Formats: sequence, structure tokens, C-alpha cells
Amino acid sequence: MADDTRNTGMKLLVAIGDDRVRDSFAQALADYPGATRQVCGDSTEALRLAVESRPDVVLVGAELGPEDGFQTVQAIIAQVPGVSALLVAKNPVPADFRRALRAGARDMLEIPVEKKELFSAIEAASAVSRDKRTALEGLTAAALAEEREPARATGTVVFSTKGGTGKTFLATNLAAGLASAGKRVALVDLDLQFGDVAIALGLTPERTIYDLVSSYTEFDVTLMSDFMLKHSSGLHVLPAPLYPDQSEEVTLADVRTVLEVVSTGYDHVIVDTPPFFEERVLAALDWADRVLLVGSLDIPSVKNIKISFTTMDLMAYPAEKLRIVMNRADSKVGLDLSEVERTLGRPVEQSVSSSIDVPRALNAGEVLLLSKPTSQVGRQLAALVEMYEPVQNNHRRQFGRFRRR
Ligand SMILES: Nc1ncnc2c1ncn2[C@@H]1O[C@H](COP(=O)(O)OP(=O)(O)O)[C@@H](O)[C@H]1O
Ligand SMILES: [Mg+2]
Repeated sequence: MADDTRNTGMKLLVAIGDDRVRDSFAQALADYPGATRQVCGDSTEALRLAVESRPDVVLVGAELGPEDGFQTVQAIIAQVPGVSALLVAKNPVPADFRRALRAGARDMLEIPVEKKELFSAIEAASAVSRDKRTALEGLTAAALAEEREPARATGTVVFSTKGGTGKTFLATNLAAGLASAGKRVALVDLDLQFGDVAIALGLTPERTIYDLVSSYTEFDVTLMSDFMLKHSSGLHVLPAPLYPDQSEEVTLADVRTVLEVVSTGYDHVIVDTPPFFEERVLAALDWADRVLLVGSLDIPSVKNIKISFTTMDLMAYPAEKLRIVMNRADSKVGLDLSEVERTLGRPVEQSVSSSIDVPRALNAGEVLLLSKPTSQVGRQLAALVEMYEPVQNNHRRQFGRFRRR
């Protein structure tokens, strides 16, 4: 519809109540080059024609009835995207000009109007109309592209250069917590040699990332989810290979593909990792929107976090991508939290206490956040999950505002 408007030149609609005035405008406009025009004498017909034929410019008499010209202009502008309106009146007073502008008219012309003045007013109005329509078309195309392209997941890598810091414990609780809050969540175990995500969740792996990438070179997220375990929280889990020697069969390219594909089908993708920088882990760190660095309140751990920061600074990650989570943050021999923050020059996002509940839950294949939500550690884990809400909300809010247009 937008196209035929452009191809057939300018479309004019004239709506004037007084017969003589209407005829004189119609006659004058017959000479307007390249324009097609429609003429009517009342507001009901004017609105009907405007909606039906989407004119570029409407010329409306202020004395129109049954609705007056100002109301008619307002109604037409509300219903016809990109239209420009001109009002014409005999002996207009200053208040009429204000009403015209408030109704959304481009201009108010005083009858009698010279042909030259009329033509240049129409010319200006139609230029505005063209610009508005081009902008609207751009917006619509962008909105459609947004609709078609599924929103990409927020990617989080849980990382630490030290083993046993609680990566798997935090990754599983964060993922299951987000899933039970209604988000679509995937957890990928990239600790390819010794991954224990499935066990921590009480799940028995059948097919793993190794089976996926050794069976297919190309796959979509639907096929991928066939290879994933389903946890009672709603979480989908892609387990690590069953045997350590299968780890080497999962290439850097495979890891990149897995992460890109999984990002298309979930709100959140959480990745658990081994305790060292290697090629495939680096690929995951690059891919991630956030990296949770897991540390503890002791000198070696703080030193490790510092080294991690230096390494990641070299990779030019933005500072807000890296978040510190302190686990077992209450050990009696440990350092003071604020001391650690000062040493690192960065705030600690969340602390999680030490508790016998943690190994108990892991050994039972339970998610502590879900099985003991009111315990101290349960509440701290809930705070960690909540930390993710603002990102999601911002995203949604932007989306919503865009779509409403
Ligand atoms: N907050 C905690 N309190 C007590 N024990 C913990 C805590 N966090 C982790 N653990 C224990 O530490 C061990 C290592 O945790 P895990 O999550 O497997 O570490 P990683 O994946 O970093 O190697 C597990 O036995 C776990 O029960
Ligand atoms: Mg682990």
C-alpha cells in the first residue's frame, strides 16, 4: 500500500463544507502537477476517504461539519500514518492558528488563498509527509527484523583458575534458580575432562556434548536440546563427555558452534568451566556477556583473581563483564572482604558462606537454592540469581517500547 502511494505521485484530499469554496480549491488544484485528488464536503466522508486511500496531504476547511475542521484533522492524523494536514479558514483569529497547530495541522491558510501560496504550502506539506513515511517504513522494517531474529541469550561463564572453589556449585544453583523463576535456561558443562554438572544435579547423562558434536557438524537448537538432560527446575543441561579422552574430540570450532546455537533458544546460558585458561575456555569467555570469577578469602585465591583480571584486561573485556563472587566467604582464617576489595580495586558482587549444607546437597544431587531456600547460603544464592533480573528487565523494556510504535 505504501508503494502505490509513491508510484502514483502525490495524493491530495480536499474536505471543505462550503460548495463555492470547495469548487474553487478543486479547480485550482487540478493544475497541481502530478497529483491525484479526491474532494468531499463533510467530516465523515473525509475520514473514510483518508483511511481508505491514505493521502499524502489533506486540505480541510475549518468550518467543516458535522465535526469541525480541527477535529477532523486530528482524527485523520491519528488514523493515517505519515499524512500531513493543512487547514483553510475565512477570517481566522489567532486562537484558530493555535487550535490548528494543536490538532496537528502543518499550516493554516486564509481564504482566499493565492494559487502560488497554496501550491508551496502543499509542496512543503507533502515533503514532510514523504519524510514521515520513509521514517515509518524504516521503523517497521527494523521492528520486523527484531521480531524475526530471536533475542540472544544472556551468556554467563563461571570461571576460576583454581580447582574446588565452587564453580560447579554456583553454576548449577544459578542456572536452576533462574529456571525455576520461569526463565528458559541452558547449562553447558565445558569442564570437558572432569565435568560433574550432571551428577551435581542428580541427573544421569546418556548423551553428551561429545555425542552431539561427533554426530553432527551442523545443528539447530531444537536438535541440540534432544541431547540435553531435563532437570526438574526446567533447566536443560548439556553434559560433559562421559570419558576424559573424549574431551579432545570436542574442538574449538565445536565449542564455538555449541555456544552460538544454544544462545538462540534460551533466555540464559550458563557455562561451567575447568580451572584453567585454555583455547576452548577462552572462546567461551569471549562469547560471554558476563564472567563470574569465583574466589575465596585467602591470599592464593586473591592472587589468582588478580591474574585473571590482568589476563582479561589484555583481552580488552569491558570492566562490567567481570563479576567477583566470593565463596566460603566466612572462613575464620580468611581475609576481610573489604580488604580483598581494596586489593583488587573492584567490588565483590556477592558472597556465599561456607556451610556443610553445600557438600550435602551436592552429594545428594540437590540444588541447595531450591531444597533449602531459607538457609543462609540459600538466601545468598537467591541474591545471586536476583542480580540477573535488571539485565533482563532492561532488555524487555526496550523491546516493549520499540514494539508499541
Ligand atoms: N560454600 C561452600 N561451603 C562448603 N562447601 C563448599 C562450598 N562451596 C563449595 N563447597 C565444596 O567444595 C567442593 C568443590 O566445589 P565445586 O563446586 O565442585 O568446585 P569447582 O567446580 O570449582 O571445582 C565441593 O565438595 C563442594 O561441596
Ligand atoms: Mg567443577
